[in-house]
Amino acid sequence: MEKSSLGFLHRYLPAPAGQDASRAYTLLLLHGTGGDEHDLLDLGRMLDPGAALLSPRGKVLEHGMPRFFRRLAEGVFDIDDLKQRTYELADFITAASKTYGFDAHRVIAVGFSNGANIAGSLLLLRPGLLAGAALLHPMVPFVPQVIPDLAGTPVFVGAGRHDSIAPPPETERLVALLESAHVQLTLQWLPGGHSLSHEEVRAVREWLRQSF
Ligand code: MLT
Repeated sequence: MEKSSLGFLHRYLPAPAGQDASRAYTLLLLHGTGGDEHDLLDLGRMLDPGAALLSPRGKVLEHGMPRFFRRLAEGVFDIDDLKQRTYELADFITAASKTYGFDAHRVIAVGFSNGANIAGSLLLLRPGLLAGAALLHPMVPFVPQVIPDLAGTPVFVGAGRHDSIAPPPETERLVALLESAHVQLTLQWLPGGHSLSHEEVRAVREWLRQSF
């Protein structure tokens, strides 16, 4: 279903009929720069054919390319905009759960690049909103003054050893930040750069299966 209501253009695909409701969760799919609400639907279905999928389009345009928040340059974020957009996205998730009737406590973000960065920001600014998050090629969104307690929240980080946009030292800073918030971290190093690979998709699928 394509919708422009609830503040974000988005797609919502309910879990297929016959799913075990006690195990059901919703994957919140967050695309990278230049993507849209359609981009990650196939990935979501690959990760878990039984999950509901909620996929918004980022509202910021950079030279016509949708993003979830503004940046001042490559890797330099407009932190005020990031925080405001993070709260907007959080409100969208809550509103969508009421509209579509999915469990707001069983939402797992799957974000790539810019989408991973706003997913990281959601973890930091709205602890407890996400049941978990797969951050694929993420950066540190910002360092909060007070580190939230995310004890027990499963978080997957997929990082490329040759990623020039989110290079290994950036991943290590993010991992240290997430560990200081006590998340249940799964870190997967990949041989490639700033793109998704089959190996990464398999690793996320396995992480989902074991964690939820
Ligand atoms: C960002 O701006 O969020 C990161 O630089 C990743 C990207 O979208 O290129």
